[in-house]
Amino acid sequence: MLNELIANTMPFMPKSFVRLFAQKYVAGKYPEDAFQYTEDLNREGAVGTIDLLGEFTEEREKARETVDMYKHVLDNIVSRKLGTNISIKPTAFGALVNMDFCTENIREVVKYAYEKKIFVRIDMEDHPYTDFTIDLYLQLNKEMPGSCGTVLQSYMKRTLKDIEYIAENIDRANIRLCKGIYNEPEEVAYKDKKKVNENFLDALDLLFKNKAYVGIATHDDYLIDGSYELIKKYGLNKDDYEFQMLLGVRSELRKKLLADGHLLRIYTPFGEDWLPYSIRRLKENPAIVGSAIKGFLKGGK
Ligand code: FDA
Repeated sequence: MLNELIANTMPFMPKSFVRLFAQKYVAGKYPEDAFQYTEDLNREGAVGTIDLLGEFTEEREKARETVDMYKHVLDNIVSRKLGTNISIKPTAFGALVNMDFCTENIREVVKYAYEKKIFVRIDMEDHPYTDFTIDLYLQLNKEMPGSCGTVLQSYMKRTLKDIEYIAENIDRANIRLCKGIYNEPEEVAYKDKKKVNENFLDALDLLFKNKAYVGIATHDDYLIDGSYELIKKYGLNKDDYEFQMLLGVRSELRKKLLADGHLLRIYTPFGEDWLPYSIRRLKENPAIVGSAIKGFLKGGK
């Protein structure tokens, strides 16, 4: 309870204080930090997906800077031979400014990546953007087959229907499946953790049934065990799916997934706008705040 209360008041605390808890979730402020981190990951046997932090932008100029920064990242992925793709968010590309402007910005980055044979994952934000994101994903794949994938969230009540819709509109879908992180209203999202888990495994089953390539994005042992069973049930090969985790979360699980021979991708965010992302992560696991405070008081790091 206390940890949760502290995590909820994080947005009102000084940035320098929040940074104490939050730094483990981001590679750093600069693209070089993400490149360096990806090199380390690759040495460990994992791959990455680089994400430039900064979302819900209302400024055209900022959205255009995001386009330029992602191009810089893509150039470096090629020149440094990094084992990584990129993840992007519609609201960082101007979805709040104008949907057409956002679409053109995303198309520009996906095309730039496609020419370099680098895959782009379009992250899923909150429900006002769900239809837009799915349709954009399908449209860009018509124009540039295999160029990008998107994300479905198991807390959303519509997810099984979305899987059917996507399967009807693309030969082989490429979907990251996660629980979902935004504070959604009850009309659209399940609030009960058990139901979210059930829906995760039902969605994964349906995705595999429809022969989708799936990025299984969870740190939840129950869901990982359930995923192992479904991988077995469908007799899948190692290149039919991958596991995905967030930077800074459960490093011991990384070792297990790699030791079991799965492809493992780590979400690697960087950028100056680290605060909203880090607060979401801290709220996800308020216990971290408590143990960090204890460590801090004892003079630990
Ligand atoms: P759960 O939250 O139950 O965590 C399971 C266990 O993992 C916890 O008990 C704890 O031990 C550990 N853990 C989890 N989060 C932690 C944290 N922050 N700090 C420390 N330990 C933690 N969401 C979304 O809405 N749209 C998106 O596009 C994405 N993209 C995405 C990419 C990738 C690669 C991942 C892994 C996740 C996302 N998410 C996301 C976030 C996702 O929806 C979800 O919020 C988190 O993955 C946490 O859910 P888990 O399934 O890990 O379960």
